[in-house]
Amino acid sequence: MTAPARTVAAALRAATARLEAAGRDGARLDAEVLLCAALGVDRVRLTIDRDRPLDAAEESRLEALLARRASGEPVAYVTGEREFWSLPFAVGPDVLIPRPETEGAVDAALAALAALRAGRGPDEPIRVIDVGTGSGAIVVALASEARSRGWSNVRFLALDRSRAALRIAQGNARRLVGPGVVAFVHGDLLSALRGTSIDVVVSNPPYLSDDDLRAISTEVAREPVAALIGGGKDGAQILHGLVADAARVLRPGGFLVTEIGSTQGGTVAALARDLDFADVRVLPDLAGLDRVVSARWQAFGDAG
Ligand SMILES: C[S@@+](CC[C@H](N)C(=O)[O-])C[C@H]1O[C@@H](n2cnc3c(N)ncnc32)[C@H](O)[C@@H]1O
Repeated sequence: MTAPARTVAAALRAATARLEAAGRDGARLDAEVLLCAALGVDRVRLTIDRDRPLDAAEESRLEALLARRASGEPVAYVTGEREFWSLPFAVGPDVLIPRPETEGAVDAALAALAALRAGRGPDEPIRVIDVGTGSGAIVVALASEARSRGWSNVRFLALDRSRAALRIAQGNARRLVGPGVVAFVHGDLLSALRGTSIDVVVSNPPYLSDDDLRAISTEVAREPVAALIGGGKDGAQILHGLVADAARVLRPGGFLVTEIGSTQGGTVAALARDLDFADVRVLPDLAGLDRVVSARWQAFGDAG
């Protein structure tokens, strides 16, 4: 005699217990997310359909997802998706999983775009580049906002040193804001750009030190090292290169907006001031930690 099929509620209880036993934090939430993925439903349906039995195909999909999560794979890689700026980004082991604190860089870049638009004609193009775009989180969030605000003169470019990341970002941009809205370039920081053509350089570059990497969880260590390690003793080597490159490509009045590690605000702000950026600000995240540096290139130049 075959055992009666498990209900949705029973499968959820068992999945939670299994992830707890495997030592995973947030077991209940992850179990819900994985059960939704296995059933192809949203979380509300887990409650509405709590007494519905799972069929054999759903059981085997759930088992495969739980085994991956129990072994320590981040839940976003297991489901292939992470929400950022209320948009569903496809993610995989070739890209960093977008973090909520990076929404601070999007906010600061939007403030920069609003300031630039106020000083320009409505049809004059404003060019934004997202350096180290990864999944495309920042540039796609900005393009989506620009569309809903009717900012049709903003042009979007995104860059990464990883071709695998660029493929994922291109797919996200096409699906979330439409084909041709964001242009993509392969490159090392801004070395491929000539002249001063950019109005906003925005970035969440790698900024962890080797010591930071040793101290972080095994789950973060599943993300690409090239997306995490910033080089140098304090992890700020790539940040320094980014600030110097931004000074070379920004038009007068343009903005640099970059995410930073919580201890890097002082050195990054000092470097920006040394290079003659003005209006240099270190902005906190929701936890009150230094998280973004925003600076204006020759703020009193002729384009502000
Ligand atoms: C911290 S991840 C940020 C990804 C995405 N912007 C986000 O916020 O989720 C940094 C990204 O920078 C890229 N990267 C690292 N060094 C780079 C370099 N020198 N030039 C261009 N991109 C680089 C990595 O491949 C990675 O995709």
